Amino acid sequence: MDCDQTVLTFIEFFAERGHELTKGSSLLPPQGDSVLYTSAGMQPLTRYLEGAPHPLGARLAGVQRCLRTTDLDDIGDYTHLTVFEMLGSWSLGDYGGPQSLRWGLELMSAGFGIEQGRLYATAFGGNDEVGPDIDAVATWRELGLPVELGGPQNWWSNGPTGPCGPDSEIFVWMPDGPPAGSPLTDERWVELWNHVTMRYRRLNDGRLEALARPSVDTGMGLERLLMVTQRVGSVFETDLIAPWLSALLGLWPGLAGNGGRPLRIVVDHLRSAVAVIGDGVLPASNGRGYVLRRLLRRALIELWHADRSATLADLPPGLVEQTLDHFGQQAGPGFVGGVLAAEQGRFAELLTRGRAVLRRLYPDGALTERDYRFLHETHGLPGEIVTELAAELRP
Ligand code: ALA
Repeated sequence: MDCDQTVLTFIEFFAERGHELTKGSSLLPPQGDSVLYTSAGMQPLTRYLEGAPHPLGARLAGVQRCLRTTDLDDIGDYTHLTVFEMLGSWSLGDYGGPQSLRWGLELMSAGFGIEQGRLYATAFGGNDEVGPDIDAVATWRELGLPVELGGPQNWWSNGPTGPCGPDSEIFVWMPDGPPAGSPLTDERWVELWNHVTMRYRRLNDGRLEALARPSVDTGMGLERLLMVTQRVGSVFETDLIAPWLSALLGLWPGLAGNGGRPLRIVVDHLRSAVAVIGDGVLPASNGRGYVLRRLLRRALIELWHADRSATLADLPPGLVEQTLDHFGQQAGPGFVGGVLAAEQGRFAELLTRGRAVLRRLYPDGALTERDYRFLHETHGLPGEIVTELAAELRP
C-alpha cells in the first residue's frame, strides 16, 4: 500500500463510520495560538475539544502536518521526523474511548493487515489526580490485546494548559522475529497510534477541571504507519521519503558514514525546511523563522562534515517540487531554492567570520561559559556554532 492508498484507507474507514473529513491546516497554528508551530493533529481543533460545536459535526477525521522541535535530538534515528503528518480521528462529545480503541484495532488488523500478535497497548495507570484508565484496560482485555499500565507518558496534553486526559497507545513490534518484552521495557516496540480521552482541561492555575463534554482525540504518525505496512526499517525508506534518501545519497555519498545517521538528519532537516518555507516562513533570528534557521544550519553542519564542497544549489528542483506538491503548497521550487541558497550563503559567512574570531581569541579551542556569552553578545555567534568551531581548533 503506497502513501496515498494508506491515507485513503484511513479516511474511508472513518467516513464509513460517520466521520467528516477535516481540511488539515498549515504548519502555522490558528491566530491567537501561543505556540510557534502546529505540533499535533488536534491543535486546530482545540476549541472544539473544549466544548465549542464544530460546523462539520461530532465525528471528524483528517490528516494534519505537524512540526515538533521537542524531538530534535532524536532526529537521526529510524522513527522520528521534525515535520511529519498525523492521521487523526475525533469524537467531539459523541462516542467514548472504548469505541475508539475497538475501531483502532479493527483498522490496524483488517484495514492495514498488521497481525494482532505484533500489537501491544499501554494505558494510563493513574496518579494522585486521576485514577487508572480502567475502561481502556477492560477494552483491550476484551479484544485480546496485551496491555500494560504507564505513568506520565500515558497522560496527554498539548501544553501546560488546555484539554488533556488519559492516553492509550498502540505499539507495534518492528523486528521480523517473535515479539519480546513490552513497550515500556523494549524499544523495538514502536509507538504508533495514541487514543486520548479528553476528559479534562488544565487551567492557568494548574488545577484540573472536568470537561462538561468529554471527547476522544486520536493521532497516528503517517510515516511510521507506512514504515510498518511497507515493512521497511525506517521512516526514511517509505515511498514518501525514500526519494529524498536516494537523491541525497547520490549527491553526497559521504553522508552514509556513521551508520547513515548524518544522512537521515540532513534528509529530515532539508525536507522539513522545504515544508516550512512552503507554508510561508523565512529564516529569521527569532520565532518561527529561527526554528527554520536552526534546521538549515544543522543540516549544513552535517553536510559540510561529510563533504566540504557540498552546496544546497545541487538539490534537485524536482525533489523539492514533489514535497511542495505533497503538502499542497503554492510556493515553487525556484523560490524555495532561492531561500535555501541565501541562508546557506549567510551561514557560510558567519562560519568564516566565527572561525577567524575563535582562531584569534581561543587558538586551542578551550572556552568557558563566559567566553560563550561574550562571543554571542559581542560577535553574534550562537552557542552551537561556537561549539562546532571550537571542536575544529582542539588538537
Ligand atoms: N493528540 C494526541 C497525540 O498527538 C493524539 O499524540
